[in-house]
Amino acid sequence: MEPITLFQNKRILLGVSGSIAAYKSIDLASKLTQAGAQVDVILTEAAQQFATPLAFRSVTGRPVYTSMWDLDDHVRHVGLGETADFFLIAPATAHTIAKLAHGLADNLLTVTALAARCSIMLAPAMDGGMYEHAATQANIATLQARGAAFAGPAVGRMASGLSGLGRMVEPPELLNAVRLALAGNGPLVGMHVVVSTGPTREALDPVRFISNRSTGKQGLAVAQAALDAGARVTLIAGPISEPAPLGVTRINVETTQQMADAVLAATQDADALFMVAAVADFRPETQSDRKIKKTEQEGDGNGGWGLAIGLEVTLDILSAVKERREKTGYPRVSLGFAAETHDAFEYGRQKLLRKGLNFIAVNDVLADGAGFAVDTNRVVLLSSAGVVEEMPLLSKTAVAERLVHHVARALGKG
Ligand code: CTP
Repeated sequence: MEPITLFQNKRILLGVSGSIAAYKSIDLASKLTQAGAQVDVILTEAAQQFATPLAFRSVTGRPVYTSMWDLDDHVRHVGLGETADFFLIAPATAHTIAKLAHGLADNLLTVTALAARCSIMLAPAMDGGMYEHAATQANIATLQARGAAFAGPAVGRMASGLSGLGRMVEPPELLNAVRLALAGNGPLVGMHVVVSTGPTREALDPVRFISNRSTGKQGLAVAQAALDAGARVTLIAGPISEPAPLGVTRINVETTQQMADAVLAATQDADALFMVAAVADFRPETQSDRKIKKTEQEGDGNGGWGLAIGLEVTLDILSAVKERREKTGYPRVSLGFAAETHDAFEYGRQKLLRKGLNFIAVNDVLADGAGFAVDTNRVVLLSSAGVVEEMPLLSKTAVAERLVHHVARALGKG
């Protein structure tokens, strides 16, 4: 797992109560630690029936707390709760949820929850109809009214063999839920950011299309970086197979025209647009509504057949955004990409002016480690004043964070 900037130097308290799902929390503690967080684990007595303190200590490299009566642990509950950035209780059993709802403090986990000053999230795990029981639902409502967040539970097979609502959310999703919650203090809180990503497709007939090699990785990284900075993010995605980050509003499009409509609609009130999509520049002049048959083409019947396709230029989305922006002022800041194979800098500069952008991220898609379907990129960021930053070869995640940083500054944030 890659370290995540947002988790660096964050202190996360992980409270584990007694459910079979406790074994998954070892993995969760490991993932949070690998992401860069300092993870302090508190296990209830029941939790220790399912997962040992040693296992948690092994993955976090930190002491694990189990008892209020341990001489060293006794005063820690106050300190742990006061210094943590986030308190995640996973799994949260029906019993622990009930105790927290009523302010009971009979073990280190519940005592610490009462003393905690940070945000709390609970990931319920319980069997049978326990989750749906009116008592549990009332307790959850009480905790929600007090500001606690809930992740899950999910539907699936439970320890009893029954299937239903009560499984703890899987560790990767829980990590993303914590990530989203931690972003609540970022520089772009209250800002709306629109990101386009992936290719567009232009149909030739019902089975064929013109497109390009974009996989959407760089745009997804920008969407994640904007989320991490606390923004509300609308992601406009062409056909891509990679999943979108938790927390975006995703709009799927296929053609350039659909992407243009979606971008123009979403940026009506947007603070920033990152136009990362590799938009198809050409489309067939005509689209056949029936499959174009090889055997119906002109030719001599001996393999000399061919098909000439006339292409026309598609709408330039950023130019349409520029026109609207001149009238309304939205999006307030706009950033484009320039994918070039030669004379990257000069073409980039021209595009910045032609498309009315604040920034253009120029990349030479033929450079080593840059371009499509790789996890790294080499970008030079330009503004009308010249070079803003010449980045070394970086992960697409790091490039995205740099771009979001510059746009946040242009918005007067960060
Ligand atoms: N773009 C756009 N609409 C298009 C084509 C591109 O909005 N029809 C956007 C891209 O999302 C990118 C920027 O314009 O942010 C530059 O894209 P690029 O493909 O590098 O440039 P083109 O405008 O297509 O110009 P050229 O083909 O001459 O390189």
